[in-house]
Amino acid sequence: MVNVSPNSEVPIDAAASQASTLVVYVAAAFAALGGLLFGYDTGVISGALIFIRQSFALSTFHQEIVVSVVLVGACMGALGGGRLADRLGRRKMLLVTSLIFMAGAIVCAAAMSVTTLVVGRTIVGLGIGFASSTVPLYISEIAPARVRGFQVSLFQLAITVGILAAYLVDYSFARTENWRWMLGLAFVPGAMLFLGMLVLPETPRWYAQRAQLDSARRVLMRIRGTQAVDAEFNEIVATLQQAHERGQLADLLLPEVRPALVIGVGLAIFQQITGINTVIYYAPTIIQSAGISSASGAILATAGIGLVNVIMTVVSMWLIDRAGRRALLLTGIAGMAISLGALGYVFHLPARAGGIAEIAVFTLMAYVASFAISLGPIFWLLIAEIYPLKIRGAAEGIAAGTNWAANFLVALTFLTLVQMFGPSQTFWLYGVLAVAAWIFSYYLVPETKGRTLEEIENSWRLKRPRPLPRP
Ligand code: BGC
Repeated sequence: MVNVSPNSEVPIDAAASQASTLVVYVAAAFAALGGLLFGYDTGVISGALIFIRQSFALSTFHQEIVVSVVLVGACMGALGGGRLADRLGRRKMLLVTSLIFMAGAIVCAAAMSVTTLVVGRTIVGLGIGFASSTVPLYISEIAPARVRGFQVSLFQLAITVGILAAYLVDYSFARTENWRWMLGLAFVPGAMLFLGMLVLPETPRWYAQRAQLDSARRVLMRIRGTQAVDAEFNEIVATLQQAHERGQLADLLLPEVRPALVIGVGLAIFQQITGINTVIYYAPTIIQSAGISSASGAILATAGIGLVNVIMTVVSMWLIDRAGRRALLLTGIAGMAISLGALGYVFHLPARAGGIAEIAVFTLMAYVASFAISLGPIFWLLIAEIYPLKIRGAAEGIAAGTNWAANFLVALTFLTLVQMFGPSQTFWLYGVLAVAAWIFSYYLVPETKGRTLEEIENSWRLKRPRPLPRP
């Protein structure tokens, strides 16, 4: 811990300051393990299901339940988790989340019946929901404004790494058909999250909101590595004073909160109904239907798509505090719309025409790359930035819960849409929805780059039609 002498305004020496900045990076990285578990636990089931099906002789209906119960649990977890994070604190909530992840992994790995497996998957879903509403919140409240985009996007990076890790783990256990290890390995990042959160700090903003101002200032000095935290501290306190009393759920509908709520919920829906998880969950099926018939070829292409997802998320993190949120969001969504149009066209061409399968894989990669620089990280970032402190957890939970509900809806309807209308029309439908997402973002999404959370909050209160200047 950094040694601070009271009443001094002088920054502690450079080494101490670096060490403290490191605290923020370490805290963000540990919290992001919640994202790794999110990606891993949603991705791992595609490969594990083949063997679970055999072990328990599952009907199609039971398979659908084993897969989708996670999404239902996540939706409930996200909705309730945000409010709990307001009450218990972000750090305690992450400790609870890690315990849930560990319990879920054990129950799934040891399940001797479908019922136990479904219970285990529901517990895992709850953990994912808690993580998705609390991790971005925790990171955004400890990060300095200058690098907040980068640090909160560690969450999305961890999701993509988790998905890729799940593909690889599935692949390596496939020979031994050991689905128990596939599901049980999630225990490891769960335990790491627990150990990390035992020693990492609560956020200064949560302390301030609970009127524990001494703790708020102490943590702020620790994570900024300096005693000169007056400006940030005073801004937090002043913003809270303007907000008067403790947040109620009804506050979500206040005129200064409503626009932010519309943006969070709108982006949550658009992130899903533009089809990302049809690719993440069904990539091998899509690739096979485009003409790569061997299973291993399809799996390899899927891993390639997972890798593109990771790499482009890193690119986005590098750009997000430089180019800003809006520029990336609008460019990426435009790329998604174009690649979805192209994907629909590829499936429209005569089946097995020369080179079609390769073009389909390339187009899928372009689509995932466009998502990874835009709607992927920026949705999770914005919902951690745009809400007033007093109801931040609850509002973020609503946005995250909506995201899981939309995810569930798309996962449930994709194969039916393909059967009824064919792949071309289905991808074109997602393409049209991407155009709608672009228009929505263009007119409603504010630029939050470089602003403190308090500046963002105050800009809503001032009721400017466009709260922050466009780049
Ligand atoms: C989405 C997930 C998706 C993942 C893919 C996340 O931002 O919320 O639904 O599976 O990105 O990288």
